[in-house]
Amino acid sequence: MKINEVIENIKARRSVRTFTDQQVSEEDLLAILEAATYAPNGMHYESWHFTAIRNCDKLIELNNRIKGAFAKSDDLHLQERAHNPNYCCYYHAPTLVIVSNEPTQWWAGMDCACAIENMFLASTSLGIGSCWINQLGTTCDDPEVREFITFLGVPENHKVYGCVALGFANPKTLIKTKAVKVGTVTIVK
Ligand SMILES: Cc1cc2nc3c(=O)[nH]c(=O)nc-3n(C[C@H](O)[C@H](O)[C@H](O)COP(=O)(O)O)c2cc1C
Repeated sequence: MKINEVIENIKARRSVRTFTDQQVSEEDLLAILEAATYAPNGMHYESWHFTAIRNCDKLIELNNRIKGAFAKSDDLHLQERAHNPNYCCYYHAPTLVIVSNEPTQWWAGMDCACAIENMFLASTSLGIGSCWINQLGTTCDDPEVREFITFLGVPENHKVYGCVALGFANPKTLIKTKAVKVGTVTIVK
């Protein structure tokens, strides 16, 4: 199987869900955000926005408002999360990047997914752990959540398509070797 640095980096990326308290440097964060902006995007509209939060209190407030939105849901699983004092959707990562876009184009979410994967790969190459955080996707239009993300800088006409948790993986937490499903590829000759 052919291998090079880029393919190795792709295979090395894993979702990290336990972080140390160490903050990602501003230089590394800027490199990760720049990688996001180089992602392919439909018609090259670049209508996306990346809101990076590095403030612990603001992240706690965001999590509390997301839990507030969950509390209004009929879904028992979300209700459980809402009332669990330990629930933290971003796993206490020191940095969270909210990835949003205008919902006017049907591919808006795809643009964001491309940018998010670029961030994951750039992070991996810099030794920084990352994870996709989806909870704002379903809660961004809850009034209390919307008020707060607007305050944080998410454009008012944007929907959130995903978030990226960034930080350093806790070395005590073992990440299992990835098993990749077989039979998902067809090559027609
Ligand atoms: C669209 C999407 C949404 C995801 N949402 C979450 C999430 O909210 N929380 C989480 O811990 N992981 C989330 N993940 C990460 C997946 O669980 C993870 O990529 C998958 O289990 C494979 O593991 P790996 O990333 O280590 O290869 C999400 C991934 C994708 C692509």
